[in-house]
Amino acid sequence: MAESLRHPFLQGLSKHRGAPPTVVVIFGASGDLTARKLIPAVYNLAHDNLLPADFYLVGYGRKPIPDDEFRTLATDAIKEFSRREMSPEVWARIAPRTSYVAGGYDDKPAFDRLAAHIADIEKKIGREVQVLFYISTPPSVFAPILLNLGASGLAGKHLGKSHHAKVIIEKPFGKDLTSARELNVTIRSVFEEYQVYRIDHYLGKETVQDLLVQRFANAIFEPLWNRNFIDSVQITVAEEVGVGTRGGYYEQSGCLRDMIQNHTMQLLALTAMEPPVSMDAEAVRDEKVKVLKAIQPLVLGPNGDVARAQYAAGMMAGKSVPGYLQEGGIAPESGTETYAAIRLSINNWRWQGVPFYLRSGKRMARRVSEIAINFKRPPGTLFSKDGGFDLAANTLSFQIQPDEGLSLIVNTKIPGLETRTQPVKMSFRYATTFGSNTPEAYERLVLDAMIGDGTLFIRGDEAETSWGLYTPVLDHWKAEGRKGMDSYAAGSWGPPSGDALLMKSGHQWRQP
Ligand code: BG6
Repeated sequence: MAESLRHPFLQGLSKHRGAPPTVVVIFGASGDLTARKLIPAVYNLAHDNLLPADFYLVGYGRKPIPDDEFRTLATDAIKEFSRREMSPEVWARIAPRTSYVAGGYDDKPAFDRLAAHIADIEKKIGREVQVLFYISTPPSVFAPILLNLGASGLAGKHLGKSHHAKVIIEKPFGKDLTSARELNVTIRSVFEEYQVYRIDHYLGKETVQDLLVQRFANAIFEPLWNRNFIDSVQITVAEEVGVGTRGGYYEQSGCLRDMIQNHTMQLLALTAMEPPVSMDAEAVRDEKVKVLKAIQPLVLGPNGDVARAQYAAGMMAGKSVPGYLQEGGIAPESGTETYAAIRLSINNWRWQGVPFYLRSGKRMARRVSEIAINFKRPPGTLFSKDGGFDLAANTLSFQIQPDEGLSLIVNTKIPGLETRTQPVKMSFRYATTFGSNTPEAYERLVLDAMIGDGTLFIRGDEAETSWGLYTPVLDHWKAEGRKGMDSYAAGSWGPPSGDALLMKSGHQWRQP
């Protein structure tokens, strides 16, 4: 493909970015995320020659696993989950540098063994390495891992070697404002903020990064991107899957914690923030925090800004599926929501009076994530309703997944001797223009952390600001139990209360 047509991020990756010698240590090495996402991400980075020449992978977990067996687990994971087929030559570059250390998460001597293991690697290659710790465990052991990294000197902070260590922390980052603050305090006792990479994998998605490019690399959008031209914004993250085997986790989480507080809020922040002064991590994150801080507290109770519901039995792809309460591991009277919809007001110069609607749910009609910018209707002077014209409002939609792309709805004349109009969709599709083999979110994020670019990660104050908005909702729902819990059939577009949220302002959800 001609260089000028290549995606700018890919151009950037292949030409300008290089990580120093690195050891990646994965805590929770025998877990699901490691197999599904992390090992395949490392493999694909190796395939693209984006790993440093001195790259080492160390798995860490409670289960004793010999090095050979860990390598077999890793190859199985690549074969099953990598976007590319496994090539023995590529794997041969990583396999001899892959090892495993067994130990508990609150076991300081085991962390000393890990430190010795890393020191051995440094001795072997004859130079210092940076160590990227990836905490991919249940959140209950985040704190002991962090504290032991500090106690064993691996975090580097108190040895004046902070630049040698970085830490990626998987979600969930806390379960409310208090726990997120506590986790930040623990992190800061051991690491400096610039060493910390809080993950939201939505930020690694190609189309989410493209949102920044579309907004700020084109001159036509910025003049329209405000309350004078935009009527409302809708952000949808809908899934077809139910809770499956994750009932135990989901019961403690629910849609607001699992999707709204993090993924949809990241989409909102990138959509609504002011243009940053540069693409530098701090400049971008400063703007995100600023816009999150401008969001008004949510009104709770009847006629408020939030709706929640659980899916009931229904039909998906011609098959009947059970309701949430009939799924494994779910309490018969569960008060956990599988759908949430929110109406937000951003009280700043740009957005005052423009409602932002967010919704997410499991077992919805179709898997789709999109951001829809609904523009104001044209004045009906020339093509009036009375004259038989019913013009659609222009809508610009960013399709995050699947079928990634961008589309714009415009009104057009239907060919013929009479003047009649019809809305049509102008579309750009990633797969058509660039091919479909785009990098997975985790490839981008692991590489960015190795390189030291925090732009696509969440800063501590950002996580706290978002939790600050939603913690009163969680408290309110907890106090209400099942009162106010709506329901929707699996395979539908959500409950009536989700629709009612928009109707109050004369809007309705777009059918993505
Ligand atoms: C995760 C949630 O963060 O995101 C899951 O815990 C959800 O419940 C998943 O299914 C959705 O991610 P994606 O990339 O498939 O849209």
